Amino acid sequence: MREVTATVLENKRIADEVYSLTFGLDEIVSVRPGQFVMVGVGGYPLRRPIAVCKAEGERITVCYRLKGGGTRALARDYKMGEKLSVLLPLGNGFYVKDSEKKVALVGGGVGIFPLISVIRAYNKSKELYAYMGFRNRAALCMEYDMMQCHKTVLATDDGSLGYHGTAVQAFMREYEEVRPDVVLACGPVPMLRALKEAMKGRNVPVYVSLEERMGCGIGACLVCVCEKTDGAHARVCKDGPVFLIDDVVL
Ligand code: FES
Repeated sequence: MREVTATVLENKRIADEVYSLTFGLDEIVSVRPGQFVMVGVGGYPLRRPIAVCKAEGERITVCYRLKGGGTRALARDYKMGEKLSVLLPLGNGFYVKDSEKKVALVGGGVGIFPLISVIRAYNKSKELYAYMGFRNRAALCMEYDMMQCHKTVLATDDGSLGYHGTAVQAFMREYEEVRPDVVLACGPVPMLRALKEAMKGRNVPVYVSLEERMGCGIGACLVCVCEKTDGAHARVCKDGPVFLIDDVVL
């Protein structure tokens, strides 16, 4: 992990309340799929945790939803050429074993973004099946990247595009046909709970990337602590954000 001063190359709206920020670094930083960065925004003491979508040499792209003053200031004030203070790379990220050939990706809302980095890393070496859920058609973004999978199913809560239902429902409808070796997921907690329930007893590892509130992003403040099923606690920023779904209380 290191703290760098990055230069904004692009910061644009890509869907309803969702922005894509690309920044340049002075050096290449190796970033694993599923890792994240903490971005400092002027006037706000706490950095914002944001998932990495793409890491291409010295260029990193992260995507974020407008949530509060910090993300709104990030969208409004950081245009091309502005300087940003960034901590990166953070967290453990997703690992796919050599033996895991068929990989199902289940994402909802901003949870699709860490999975985009998985697609970019593994779309040539693995058979990827993506089930990506959005509120509605206006929330859809990054469809080109999602289409790089062996199969991609888009789902919307209101049926305005693709399958009418959740990403988990779309996935489970095809589960027997696909029979993945591993499932990687990210999204809101109710979605992850539904996935955990649906995958119970199937003997397939399911890894989830948790989206928690964060303070420091480096394991020091304990703002992001989650409960584990064995009664222990874990820091989402440092011990995660990726966990086996059976290991965490959702
Ligand atoms: S955000 Fe501070 S310990 Fe995780």
